[in-house]
Amino acid sequence: MVRLDVRGIHHPTQVIAAMPHAEEAKPVVAGSANCLIVDDEPSVRRSLSRMLQAQGFHCLEACSGRQGLEVLDQTGEIPLIISDMRMPELDGMGFLEQVRRRFPDSSVIMLSGMSETTTAVDCLHLGAADFLLKPISLGELQARVTRALEKRALVLQNRFYQKHLEQQVQEQAQRIQELFLQGVQMLARALEAKDAYTRGHSIRVSQYAVATAARLGFAGPGLDGIRLGGELHDIGKIGTREAVLHKPSSLTPEEFQQITEHPALGERMLSPLAHESPDVLRIVRSHHERLDGRGFPDGLRGENIPIEARIVAVADSFDAMTTRRPYREARPPDDAMRELRRVAGTQLDPRAVEAFVAAHPDPSELPIPA
Ligand SMILES: [Fe+2]
Repeated sequence: MVRLDVRGIHHPTQVIAAMPHAEEAKPVVAGSANCLIVDDEPSVRRSLSRMLQAQGFHCLEACSGRQGLEVLDQTGEIPLIISDMRMPELDGMGFLEQVRRRFPDSSVIMLSGMSETTTAVDCLHLGAADFLLKPISLGELQARVTRALEKRALVLQNRFYQKHLEQQVQEQAQRIQELFLQGVQMLARALEAKDAYTRGHSIRVSQYAVATAARLGFAGPGLDGIRLGGELHDIGKIGTREAVLHKPSSLTPEEFQQITEHPALGERMLSPLAHESPDVLRIVRSHHERLDGRGFPDGLRGENIPIEARIVAVADSFDAMTTRRPYREARPPDDAMRELRRVAGTQLDPRAVEAFVAAHPDPSELPIPA
């Protein structure tokens, strides 16, 4: 225990009980204090301290609002603060305002010698936990302090539950989305694995599209969306009859109609991603649109086609041309690149085509299956 002089703070763990006279100073340990009494009357502070210490509180004292704030600056938040209204330097109202702003979780009980209703109402509006009139009895003080601290505990508890509940809900929502994604990715691979001609198509489209998009300046979440969109772009083919998908000869109008339904069906299947990954849904819906408006399902033109879908369309076309199908042989990469350039401006986006070509300068490094 160290004896301190007026306002002296002699050690980080020793904060002065702010006293107007040196002989009244007494040492306190800041770390364990749970109550601050702010009053310019030493006798009032003493008697309040005595009453509260008998209840198990460890009290700090200050003789004005300004000194009260100094004490709080040293100790950090103190759960219970009892403050007089009329004081030099900074009065009770000013002190209350500052405490509410800087230490909002402290519970402040205001004390006054005068029975002014408006002052009491003002204090409560400013966030005081209670307003008491002097002189105050031990029983009343005890009851009011208990009530103020109970209220504070409830507020803190509520906040804790709210925060942790929100976090838990967020974590679960994320996990649900991850599980959903894993499910559709597995489904996409299982769909392709059944067919020797399309095996690995989605992964390659995804790789081509990512390399192209990176050339066009995509990065971070935008690039992730293209990666996933490329992987899932044909997921809606689950609804297309296999006989149609693998038909070696040209399609009848009814069969072609069936093929044109896969983008919209894919979009519906992936609707749980609508909020988190709208770009993935745009790719799935619009990867068969053409710049000249002759694509499907919406017949969008030019820039009305989402850029992510225009990029995936280039990747999709290239992979389709460079892999063997039941009805034709694979085209060499150089030939397929020339074809991409030929249809740039009518079917495909010329910028996306050029970015694709620039991103794949060496055909021998392309992931084309043997
Ligand atoms: Fe498709």
